[in-house]
Amino acid sequence: MAITINGKPQALRSGDRLINVINRCGIEIPQVCYHPQLGPIQTCDTCMVEVDGKLVRACATVAADGMNVVTSSLRADAAQREAFDRILGNHMLYCTVCDNSNGNCTVHNTTKLLHVEHQEIPYKPKPYEVDMSNPFYRYDPDQCILCGRCVEACQNLQVNETLSINWEDAHPRVLWDGGAPIGESSCVSCGHCVTVCPCNALMERSMLGQAGYFTSLPKAALDGMIDVVKGVEPEVGYGPILQLSEVESAMRESLIKRTKTVCTYCGVGCSFDLWTKDRHILKVEPAHGPANGVSTCIKGKFGWDYANSADRLTTPLIRDGSRFREASWDEALSLVARRFAEIKAATGPDSLAFISSSKCTNEESYLMQKLARAVIGTNNMDNCSRYCQAPATTGLFRTVGYGGDSGSISDIERAGLVVIIGSNTAESHPVLATRVKRAHKLHGQKLIVSDLRENEMARRADLFLHPRPGTDLFWLSAVTRYIFDNGLASHAFIDKWVNNVEEYRKSLEPFTLEMASQRCGLPIETLIKVAQMIAQADSVCILWAMGVTQHVMGSDTSTAISNLLLATGNYMRPGTGAYPLRGHNNVQGASDHGAMPTFFPGYQKVDDPGIRAKFEQAWGVSLPPKPGLDNHLMIDAIHYGRLKSMYVFGEELSMVDSNANYVAAALSKLEFFVMQEIFFTETCRFADVILPGCPSLEKEGTFTSTERRIQRLYRVFEPLRESLPDWKIIQEIANRLGAEWNYEHPSQIYKEIAPLTPLVAGVTYERLEGYKSLQWPVAEDGSDQPLLYTEQFKLPGGKATFFPVPWTEPTDQQNTEYDLHLNNGRLLEHFHEGNMTYQTEGIREKTPCTFVEFSPELATERGIQTGSWVQLVSRYGKVRAQVVITTRVQGKELYMPMNSVDEPVNRLTSSYTDRVTHTPAYKETSVQLNVLGELGDDPLPRTNSRHGHPTPQNGVEVERKWKREDYREPGSQLVQIQTAR
Ligand code: SF4
Ligand code: SF4
Ligand code: SF4
Ligand code: FES
Repeated sequence: MAITINGKPQALRSGDRLINVINRCGIEIPQVCYHPQLGPIQTCDTCMVEVDGKLVRACATVAADGMNVVTSSLRADAAQREAFDRILGNHMLYCTVCDNSNGNCTVHNTTKLLHVEHQEIPYKPKPYEVDMSNPFYRYDPDQCILCGRCVEACQNLQVNETLSINWEDAHPRVLWDGGAPIGESSCVSCGHCVTVCPCNALMERSMLGQAGYFTSLPKAALDGMIDVVKGVEPEVGYGPILQLSEVESAMRESLIKRTKTVCTYCGVGCSFDLWTKDRHILKVEPAHGPANGVSTCIKGKFGWDYANSADRLTTPLIRDGSRFREASWDEALSLVARRFAEIKAATGPDSLAFISSSKCTNEESYLMQKLARAVIGTNNMDNCSRYCQAPATTGLFRTVGYGGDSGSISDIERAGLVVIIGSNTAESHPVLATRVKRAHKLHGQKLIVSDLRENEMARRADLFLHPRPGTDLFWLSAVTRYIFDNGLASHAFIDKWVNNVEEYRKSLEPFTLEMASQRCGLPIETLIKVAQMIAQADSVCILWAMGVTQHVMGSDTSTAISNLLLATGNYMRPGTGAYPLRGHNNVQGASDHGAMPTFFPGYQKVDDPGIRAKFEQAWGVSLPPKPGLDNHLMIDAIHYGRLKSMYVFGEELSMVDSNANYVAAALSKLEFFVMQEIFFTETCRFADVILPGCPSLEKEGTFTSTERRIQRLYRVFEPLRESLPDWKIIQEIANRLGAEWNYEHPSQIYKEIAPLTPLVAGVTYERLEGYKSLQWPVAEDGSDQPLLYTEQFKLPGGKATFFPVPWTEPTDQQNTEYDLHLNNGRLLEHFHEGNMTYQTEGIREKTPCTFVEFSPELATERGIQTGSWVQLVSRYGKVRAQVVITTRVQGKELYMPMNSVDEPVNRLTSSYTDRVTHTPAYKETSVQLNVLGELGDDPLPRTNSRHGHPTPQNGVEVERKWKREDYREPGSQLVQIQTAR
């Protein structure tokens, strides 16, 4: 197919928008409201071109074979200029003193492109105040050009549905919840709107007065300068004024540094540029992230203050009695090496254990496991995937072969049906959730959610199941049996690709709908509906998280999920597959790179002699053959006196492990405990030596996200004072123990990893440069696999296998004494216990503390209200917290977010674990309630988005603008706009 643009033939792809074809040809036309990730909004009218003699909006026109397009004609030019002139009527050009004048301001650049010299429609301020009520960004109505990009982003990309424009008003503006102050609306501060705003109407507060040479002038001086400029404009025109601002803007290049990094919070893997001036973070700018595009959540967009916190550890500390004293690096590292050597000599290498951080880089996890194995001689090596994701990995190892998401986030987006089980996706994996919300809202995707709480995804779902706690395995197996029994299974797929059908079908016999209904508390009709929706969908993705894995049967339930997908042929195609949502930014990578007791990097078994020989040869040492202790067994081994020393980096072990009192008692028994951290955490209190590491912004390396995507992060800041990148610290310790490593840059570490690890054989820093990324497995030639199993499964013979799983009763069940069930999990604004996120003042303001959610019926029964102080007592410990009454929970089920170091929920959780992986059964906790008789304020302040009232609509609703009496399409009457052309 081809069209002609300005007389030249141009090729096109089916469905191409005209504006994309024009842009690809390098022809410059204005396009103020168009953003490729938002699609056509059609509010600005600046992209008018002539097609076959008619004026059309290029952004909204699908290019068709044979079209004759003219981008610059008398009519098209006039229409573009008229449209832009109306925009300038809403926006004062004061570029030289504007914090947005950084070379990428759409309004400035369009003024230049159109050679605008004077405005026909004079600028008119709007009768509204600037809104400064959100701690992270501000809205200036006077500068708002009403392009609606922000509304489109909030309504249809982030799908928080907070923003709208009151098109019918005499003075339209952007509204939050239909007219609330931003800070009291449902805005979740994800920043989408600010990121896509084409001018300075929405700006990060961290930019204000910071980006330019003149932008920090006092307001009176600024106003004076603006008046002077406006005074000369009629005479000299915009040309010289814009030139002046461009000189100033070019000078900012030396002031502002832009560095690509990858988010250090959850496993979605958002990447973006950080704009910095010295150590001040001007803003986070997402644009090209392969996982996120322009998307972020509050943490990735605004949660970086921790890097510059005054609380950062910057000097090594050594225990001196009950206190710590500052020490030199040399003294601290020598002490660590000496004590490790002494303990190894006295009680053997297996009396030491190592825990790597899921927040740190792949290269650092690799070095940590190399230190444990090659230098100390133990496989006692683990990471926090033990606390969350190991059961999901086991379920996938058993059935399909690879322990990772079977496709990409884009597959989830294109699925006909998404099933979410035990995952509060909108809060725990916010950007990934936006893709589901968008597909569901705009593209007819169906959604089933199974959860104890009616979380946001549950509210949006076509079908919400609320099974009894810990019973997902039962209903999943019953639904699978029903699918088989009623001829709904995909036999063509099973015959070709799946082993062990008969044994598996036999194992399903106990799982009748009747039994499932009884056990799970779900109506039989609902279960049939689930089976039918899954069987009828053209493609199904199942997403799950800790609501599934943190149970004694977590591995088995994960296996049941994969069995169901196999039974319905939902692998091997785009838009299908299993998606265990990885929690930490690099929990996938830490396991991939060998921070596990049973595996070398790439899941190569430590007890396989051939594999061991390969690593022995590469590292020049002999290696221990026996698998080591996992995190859970390490704690037991300390209590039994077998483990004497630990080296933990970047993990709040004493808070995040289950049964926190038991863990704390173990840590205090250690002979020698080394913590490597960026803050003095609760776990540091137990340490003998504390080594100050660096956050991700101060080092280079790679992270691997939930979709197996490996991405590079670049150094934004130098390490703060004496702190050091963690890989350097690990190397220093290894060398003091005689290792003679000499890595000078993380890329050299990866050069060692790749040839030893078939899973990432083709990964090089060059192939990951900038925003490039690779999704493992990566072959030596650099080809990767965004969608797994396109040719075969990763099990012997290339076929998947059904893996029968029995029913297991949950532990720590309710009785008359402990009569309430306690669930726990994350909160959107905080990451886990909040060591990093509490450092951001705006996040503290919106979510200052943890709380316990009670159902209205239980609150009435116990005589409590929002703000009441209560004590929860489990069989293992107690905590105090304030009550929030909400319909998100029902009956005798409570929910407590984990964002507290003072009253951590894990004081209440038990030491029961998943039978296979030893992942704690955090979600199986019963408590009793003591009402304390004190009443405080709502622990969720008025400024928390949960109190807001969203205003859902389909995007910006430009048709309402077109219905205004004063609206006419530009070009319908020719007006004379003065330009220099
Ligand atoms: S939720 Fe708030 S920050 Fe996010 S796009 Fe909507 S208005 Fe903007
Ligand atoms: S605030 Fe919204 S409508 Fe106003 S200019 Fe920015 S993106 Fe456009
Ligand atoms: S926390 Fe997760 S969703 Fe939010 S910006 Fe970071 S990676 Fe993206
Ligand atoms: S870019 Fe086409 S109407 Fe705005």
